[in-house]
Order: sequence, then structure tokens, then C-alpha cells
Amino acid sequence: MSSSKFLLLSVFASFSLLKLALAFDNTRFDNKPLAFYCEDDAIDVFPVAFVNTFFGPGGVPSMNLANICNTVDNTTFPGTNLPNCASVGNDIKTCQAKGKIVTLSLGGAGGAVGFSSDSQGETFADTIWNVFLGGSSATRPFGSAVLDGVDLDIEGGSSTGYAAFVNRIRSHASGASKKYFITAAPQCPFPDASLGGVLNAASFDAVYVQFCKKPYLCFDWPLKIILSADIPPKDWDFGLWDDWARQTSPNKNVKIYVGAPASSTAAGSGYQDISTLTKIAVQMRKSFPSFGGVMLWDASQAYVNGRYDLAVKNALSAAGGTGFTYPACSAPAFAAGTNYQGGSQVSFGGYIWQAKFFASSTPSNSPNGEWSAISACSGTGTAPTSVPTSSPTSPPTSGSCAGIAAWSSGEVYTGGQQATFNGHLWTAKWWTEGDTPGGEMLPCGERNVEKEARVDPPREVKQVCLTA
Ligand SMILES: *[C@@H]1O[C@H](CO)[C@@H](O)[C@H](O)[C@H]1NC(C)=O
Repeated sequence: MSSSKFLLLSVFASFSLLKLALAFDNTRFDNKPLAFYCEDDAIDVFPVAFVNTFFGPGGVPSMNLANICNTVDNTTFPGTNLPNCASVGNDIKTCQAKGKIVTLSLGGAGGAVGFSSDSQGETFADTIWNVFLGGSSATRPFGSAVLDGVDLDIEGGSSTGYAAFVNRIRSHASGASKKYFITAAPQCPFPDASLGGVLNAASFDAVYVQFCKKPYLCFDWPLKIILSADIPPKDWDFGLWDDWARQTSPNKNVKIYVGAPASSTAAGSGYQDISTLTKIAVQMRKSFPSFGGVMLWDASQAYVNGRYDLAVKNALSAAGGTGFTYPACSAPAFAAGTNYQGGSQVSFGGYIWQAKFFASSTPSNSPNGEWSAISACSGTGTAPTSVPTSSPTSPPTSGSCAGIAAWSSGEVYTGGQQATFNGHLWTAKWWTEGDTPGGEMLPCGERNVEKEARVDPPREVKQVCLTA
């Protein structure tokens, strides 16, 4: 995400279901003042983005709110690179008076951010508290306006110090007269590369998962799965996040948002038209108790894209703004020892699962597992039915990999290409790079059921299995 944002649907304090995140995009120059986006009920949360330098001149951060306020067009506090954005402070108060939550987003793509130690993270938390939140400072860009919390949009670098930062903000906020919110915007492959450990170590109120980020294209393909159910799920990992939220997160009430581009111009890939995105959002809202809402990047683009934000908000409101009713575990109970075809659904452990490909293991929330949790559910499932089984073709016991190169982490493999690894032959299931054989590359003898399922009529792909 580039610069400033406004959230779409949300679930804070009351955790009612509808908030929209909004940001000023500093690569764009047609942002309206913040108060403009607060005029109706569509957007509930505004993470204003970004503080893009943590330690600038004078030991204070710098920020870029695009055309709304920046270090080039606006005055900076003496000895610093921090712009004075007094008029934004008035807008913040206007929005807060309408019940909106306005937070400060730290990071963004290409931000000069990060810490070398926990104590540096704590020092920075003190600075943020004094400059933007409940403390006091001679250099407050928004004057007497007090923001409602912080959002970590950390897209690179080390995770050192972030948990200490969050814990320090929490300790400042613990005695305060109002509630402060701490959120994060990780990317969708779970766990997040930059923030994974931080999310497990500190308490967050909401997580805006950027389901749209490259290179995983998580938004492009898996959604079709959910909508048409004709392709087994692979990358759509809301189930992993739901399990993380309810089992692992220090805050078991943390809410997960579907983060999405608000327009085809807002991200390199992953944009979905309004009807697709609203279907997804409503489906997630009905399927997972941790669902909090939708976060869109960004407000200015949502507004000019036919009020994309309002369409999402209306769809979620119509689906029931608050509360969660567990759907029944309508799929047959998982039966150990059964061989399930890709696409099969089972009930197990409070979820309905779908086999990503040929599956025989017990369903579990693991990024590389055979199953994907597609909905939380209540009950134990219907009686197991006899599932048509199919065993992997039995591998030949001998063979040779002469002429086939060793697998290399830097090499791109497209579906069907082969490499040797650990004394075995592996075949790429689809485009893959840097995935150690075992995940995106099939071992010898295992069939690419997912790919076969898309061939009509289904045909068995016999794989010659060799040993290096
Ligand atoms: C920053 O400067 C721009 C350009 O002059 C102006 O439009 C904007 O209102 C200024 N922002 C603030 C917060 O004063």
C-alpha cells in the first residue's frame, strides 16, 4: 500500500461488522480532505498513511500524506522532517465526532522503517505516543487532535522491536480515558514474513490481511474457488487466519479483515469487481467468527470507482451487521484412513474442510497441509459416506534421473517441469519458485488431482517415477 488509507468495514470496540479502512495514497494527488470521506456511514476506520520514516532529523519521524500534507508543500517543524498538518487535525476531530476511528499507519511499501533492538522499539513507541496519541510534544503535526491508535503496515525488513513497540503503546494506553486500537496489515501467505512472530507475541485488535499482494496473487484464483466451488482451494487462506485468531493470537478476539484493492489502479494485481468482492466478503462474514470486515486501499480510489466502499458496506449490512451464528457442520465427518479426492469436503474439529488435492491426512490448519478450512461450523458432521477413493499410482521401484537437473531455489518451474531433490524426482504442480519440493512440487508417484479435476473428462496423469 502506498500512502494513506481508509478502512472499509470493521469490527472494533463493539465489533460490529462494518468498517472501511481508507488511506491517502501518496502516489496519487487527488485525495480529498479526510473529513470529506467521513460524511456518510460507509467507512468506519481510517488508518491515515503513512509515517514512512521512523527516525528522521531531530529524532522524530517523517510522514507523507500525499497531497493532503507532505514535507515539500507544507512547512516542517524546525530541525525535523515532520510536516505540520494542523488542518488535518481539525478533520480528525470532525471524523471522530461522527464516531469514526482514525489511526496512524506506519510503514508502507518502501518505508524507511524498522528497529535494531527492543529498546529502540520502545523509544519509538514513546515518540509516537507523544507526537500523535495521548502524550504531549512541541511537534504534534495534528495539534491537539489525538489519534485512536496505530496500524503496522510493515512490508519488509526485520521484525525486531515491533512486539516491544506494541507492548509499550499498550502500556501507555492502559491508563488512558479512551480506547486505543492497534492493528497490522500483513500479507496473505501465512505466516507473514515481516510480522508473523510479532502477531504471536503482542496483542492486536484487528489484522487487515492484504489478500491482494504479489507475488502470491492470492486474490486472483482462490476466490473463484469459493464462488463456484469447481476448483479446490489452494491459496485462499482465511481459514488459517481464523484458526490463528482464535487459537494462537494473544488477543483471542482479534478480528480479521479482508484487505483488497479498491480499484484496478490501486494494486498491481488482485482487483475484483464489486459483485465478486461483495460475495467474498459476505461469504467470509457468514463462515468465520473472526471476520471483522473489509479493508480497502484506498479511499480516494474507492470513491472514484463507483463508491466501491459503499457497495461493500451495504452488502455486509444486508448480511447482518453484528453477531455470528455458526453454520451447521453439513459435510460428512472426516473418516481416518479414507483417501479423499481433491475438492472433497469433510467436517472435523469445528470446521468444514475441503481437500486441496488428493488427501488422506487428518485435517489441520497448516499452510502446506492437504486441507483448507472453508468455514467454521457447529456439530460433528453427518455420517461419513463412502467416498470414492483413489490411491496414488504405485511408484516403480527403480529408475534413473539422468539428464534431469537438481532442484534449485532460484529457478522458476512451470507446471509439469521436473527436478531432482533428496534423491527423488519432483514435478511442479504449477508455476512455482523457491518452494522446497513437498509443497508446490509433487513427489514421485503422487498425482496432481487438482489439475486433473480441471481436465474434462478427468484423466489419470501417469507419472514416471524415478530415483536419482
Ligand atoms: C499542504 O500544502 C498543500 C499545497 O499547498 C495544501 O493544499 C494543503 O492544504 C496543505 N496541507 C495542510 C495540512 O496545511
